[in-house]
Amino acid sequence: MRIGVLTGGGDCPGLNAVIRAVVRKGVGTYGHEFVGFRDGWKGPLEGITRPLGIPEVRGILPRGGTILGSSRTNPFKIENGVERIKQNLADMGVDALVAIGGEDTLGVATKLTELGVNVVGVPKTIDNDLGATDFTFGFDTAVNIAMEAIDRLHTTAESHHRTVVVEVMGRHAGWIALHAGLAGGANVILLPEQKFDLDKVVEHVETRFKTNYSPIIVISEGAMPTDGDMITLNGELDAFGHVRLGGIGNWLADQLEKRTGKEARAVVLGHTQRGGTPTAFDRVLATRFGLHAIDAVHEGDFGKMVALRSTDIVRVPLAEATRELKTVPLHRYTEAEAFFG
Ligand code: F6P
Repeated sequence: MRIGVLTGGGDCPGLNAVIRAVVRKGVGTYGHEFVGFRDGWKGPLEGITRPLGIPEVRGILPRGGTILGSSRTNPFKIENGVERIKQNLADMGVDALVAIGGEDTLGVATKLTELGVNVVGVPKTIDNDLGATDFTFGFDTAVNIAMEAIDRLHTTAESHHRTVVVEVMGRHAGWIALHAGLAGGANVILLPEQKFDLDKVVEHVETRFKTNYSPIIVISEGAMPTDGDMITLNGELDAFGHVRLGGIGNWLADQLEKRTGKEARAVVLGHTQRGGTPTAFDRVLATRFGLHAIDAVHEGDFGKMVALRSTDIVRVPLAEATRELKTVPLHRYTEAEAFFG
């Protein structure tokens, strides 16, 4: 078989580990041939490829990003997009695709499968918000990066008797904030799932100062106060249709400074959470996803996505990948509240 591989959406530590596993087992065990598509769905749409064989995947396991490049191109939003993809795949003799991506990329994969394209999906997002899998690779790395930043911010906050607001990624789901906040000993954690009461946050900050320690607040980029004043800042898009980071973190630091009379700083971790080498957990998960994805392709089991269920990798219908956004349940949030203030 000739198999195309693509990575779409926001990049994520572990993408290269998936590509490597797919190619190593695909060539070594099954004798398939590969073609790398550049920049997500843009690759098959415009016929942009790069060679993808054993030499190309050598040494990429620890590398962040993706050797294939990524984009948020959606062929369903482009005139004749689907027809162009089908034609290009036929012209290049590509029998099947491994699509590695999040909600949008896998949403496209689902629809293409229904239109007769042979696709196997691999879930990816640092946000960990895909309902069909227990974990996505990239999440553990992002949490570790945020935790290390929080550890460092504790000491500088204490030296200056300041409040530090750490804004982490997570537009719709607060998994990174919850896990990094717990691991880093944050005094308040604010998530998109639970609107926050600014008065309560002020109270927690004041309590913390009374104990002579400085408060560290971890907030997801998608968190909102109950009064909704932030609606205009949150979710604001730039000229490319991307979400602007920093809105809520800076707003909160400003409010806390005014309300508590203590200096406050906002630290927006932004894309540092997506860059660099994956953790061991993410390398193993990404590698296992890759190995199981190529098995599915080899068996002709298309329209499936690999997923982690407990400790096993299973196959689920691609459509399941995008059916449900996995947000933080209330009971997980209330656990964390024991540390607030
Ligand atoms: O979905 C992953 C993610 O990193 C989100 O946490 C974040 O909101 C978004 O991507 C940022 O997108 P971009 O890289 O386009 O700015």
